[in-house]
Amino acid sequence: MKRLPENIISVGVVDNKVRIFHGYATPMGTTYNAFLILDKEVTLIDFVKAPFADEFLQNITKALGNRTIDHIICNHVEPDHSGALPVVVAKYPHATVYGTASCEKELKAYYPEAKYPFKTVKMGDTLQTGSYTLQFFPMPMVHWPDSMGTYLVEEKILFSNDAFGQHAGTGELYADELSTEVLMEREADYYANIILPFGNAVKKLLEQLETVEIKMICPSHGVILPESFIPMIWKKYHQWSENYTNPNKVVIVYDTMWGTTKKMADALAVEWSAKGMEVELISLTEKHYSYAMGRILEAKYIFVGSPTLNSSMLPTVAAFLTYMKGLKPKGRIGLAFGSYGWSGESPKHINEVLESAGFETLEPQRVLWNM
Ligand code: FEO
Repeated sequence: MKRLPENIISVGVVDNKVRIFHGYATPMGTTYNAFLILDKEVTLIDFVKAPFADEFLQNITKALGNRTIDHIICNHVEPDHSGALPVVVAKYPHATVYGTASCEKELKAYYPEAKYPFKTVKMGDTLQTGSYTLQFFPMPMVHWPDSMGTYLVEEKILFSNDAFGQHAGTGELYADELSTEVLMEREADYYANIILPFGNAVKKLLEQLETVEIKMICPSHGVILPESFIPMIWKKYHQWSENYTNPNKVVIVYDTMWGTTKKMADALAVEWSAKGMEVELISLTEKHYSYAMGRILEAKYIFVGSPTLNSSMLPTVAAFLTYMKGLKPKGRIGLAFGSYGWSGESPKHINEVLESAGFETLEPQRVLWNM
């Protein structure tokens, strides 16, 4: 399996302890990937999160030997990638930072004290570093307005930043060191929780990349994708960006107070399994709402249950609905359900949220006290 050439060195860090990443559960932790390209001139691609700046500088220093950095490419300003910028530019003050126009504005807002020469780049601009050509590939809204990829022409390597990444921080560097099942579960989870609202931007990116020969993808989170993995990832990104759903898949997300809404969820699972559907039950007491997002990425049917609490629904279910609606899954069919003792508003409120999220809905279901 192809590996990075010797003069391209991974200098990022593994964050194997992070379990909540801006509100999103990361059971395997994550990595903040960055790369040094040692050519006639030296280029650093991306940074890491601020608390890891010392470890990052040690990695850079070790890889550089007695050389310095000439160019720094900032593919994305979100602080998980740019947090270490102030310490890096302080140590290498003559290195020029390259990024999009949005990148320049956002860096100034985040790090007003940092001093560094900056060069704005746009689609197709290139940087010669000796024998290598780096081509800039802005990909706005995959994931922020500033987001960009960088393509190393001679080696056919795409440094894709957030695109095609996974929150997998168990220390592996290449995709073939993970099982395919874990890799694709991490890819789906990441897409559902980070990229899903930006399907049109992803479609545009995939179109632009169609004419680019890529032998390796180095995302800014998780493992590097050698060439043999790219068709599988490409196919999934095409499907997900087009809101592909499996018409035979049902995910039932619920929480329960005294067990009746759980019984309703179990009964729905039996009923829909009997119709030949693949059904998954997710209890929000046991699983984080972002786990549920990863599971519903391809589900045509999303059923949501909560008992009535104080004329509304359980806060766990309200949080899940708010989160899911913001991520804008499209083309789904929903069903609201829940138990109650007297007023019974919960299924109605859940149904309203599902409709406002653009779901087609089935008739809500309620059970009084117990079943
Ligand atoms: Fe990994 Fe959008 O930051």
